[in-house]
Amino acid sequence: MTNTHDPEQMIVTRAAEGDTGAGATKSVYIQTYGCQMNVYDSERMRDVLRPLGYGPATTPAGADLVVLNTCHIREKATEKVYSEIGRIKELKDAKAATGGQMKLVIAGCVAQAEGEEIMRRAPAVDLVVGPQAYHKLPELIARTARATGERLETSFDAVEKFDSLPVRREADGPTAFVSVQEGCDKFCSFCVVPYTRGAEYSRGADAILAEVRNLAAQGVREVTLLGQNVNAWHGAAPKLDGGGIWGLARLAEEIAKVGGIARIRYTTSHPQDMDDELIAAHGSNPALMPYLHLPVQSGSDRVLKAMNRKHGRDRFFEIVERLRAVRPDLAMASDFIVGFPGETDRDFEDTMDLVRRVGFAGAYSFKYSRRPGTPAAEMYGQVPEEVKDARLQALQALLVEQQKAFNASKVGTTIPVLFTHKGRNPGQIAGRSPWQQAVHCDGPDNLIGQIADVTVVGSSQNSLSGTLASTTVMATATAFA
Ligand code: 5AD
Ligand code: SF4
Repeated sequence: MTNTHDPEQMIVTRAAEGDTGAGATKSVYIQTYGCQMNVYDSERMRDVLRPLGYGPATTPAGADLVVLNTCHIREKATEKVYSEIGRIKELKDAKAATGGQMKLVIAGCVAQAEGEEIMRRAPAVDLVVGPQAYHKLPELIARTARATGERLETSFDAVEKFDSLPVRREADGPTAFVSVQEGCDKFCSFCVVPYTRGAEYSRGADAILAEVRNLAAQGVREVTLLGQNVNAWHGAAPKLDGGGIWGLARLAEEIAKVGGIARIRYTTSHPQDMDDELIAAHGSNPALMPYLHLPVQSGSDRVLKAMNRKHGRDRFFEIVERLRAVRPDLAMASDFIVGFPGETDRDFEDTMDLVRRVGFAGAYSFKYSRRPGTPAAEMYGQVPEEVKDARLQALQALLVEQQKAFNASKVGTTIPVLFTHKGRNPGQIAGRSPWQQAVHCDGPDNLIGQIADVTVVGSSQNSLSGTLASTTVMATATAFA
């Protein structure tokens, strides 16, 4: 993970990457903003559009279809959508001037929250489709082609969406996201997710396992289970297993049995749902990677209460302690908000204290952003921008220091790396450590898609460098022979 910066800065995941687009007669460009759930949704949109003849475009200019998969979590993210619509409108006009046609679709959470307004403010938009409705994209696009019917589809049925998505899914390398849960019932007082993504819904184990098996058959070695509240997952057990309900620990146990799958991650979690079974699984299931993203948001009990987080700081300490008791090398990551309404210097100090006590390998930290319609937007004691700035700077400085120290602690050790792609320089390959660190070293391309031991020789804030361990070099040499 690239840490301590706003994930909105990471935007632009081009859904085209790694796709040959063979047999395509039309082109689609999908631009993804925000969280990993959106990255997953963009991949699935690509899947539902493929049978319609849509292949990937590497740039929006000239594409037949442009989809902006949007994020609504903070104000800045939302503003970006309108400026991007303006930019695409120019490309659309340019294409129309040469007799062509480009359709513009707004998907994701801004679509859900501000669909009506987008349609009113931006006539260049052909279709608005919420996160629970993108399985209907083919039908909706056909409707816009006939220029009839609804252009706003923000119905709210996660069950229907999951049931309608095709099982077949093209893998994009040795790691993959698998969405297992959607929505959130927690209603943290600052957050729009319960309004944009709807109520909590867990996908059934049969469908999840089918998707994982399909990905594994294509060479996927690591799956990241996704959900807004992924550790609240409680899905229907496979029918062959006699039915009933499983929790995430059991699901991870079954996924670990799928041939080829060596690594499992899940994100993102809520402290309240970190139950005994899941904590224990970190000790008993070696496929569960020793890196957990568990947002805490604040270290102040007073602020946590106002945030409606349903846990205090001691509960967080207890979870971390118990996890590290069963998995001593477990590294923690988290999310933090500074400048929540009413946050005093003392409250902020409590957050700094929590960070010092836990020690994080990575974190995202944000200034509180007032979201209309959420309870916190109306609270007294909104914190001035310059105070938020100063607190964010202090917090990020501490988190960066911790991240660098964590990375440096791996120097001199030999660690298993899942190689995922070629490195920046010729002869280099790159991948991920168990702790989600980016690792690069010299090595043959045929290690891509495999896990091999690397001795770490250098570290920086965001990555490790190393050399292939001698056992790996010997095994590779045999592979070549
Ligand atoms: N302001 C700032 N940060 C927010 N987040 C969610 N809502 C807001 C908001 N209104 C952050 C939380 C969450 C992450 C995805 O985004 O830290 O965990
Ligand atoms: Fe938002 Fe809180 Fe739900 Fe996370 S748990 S998605 S922060 S409401």
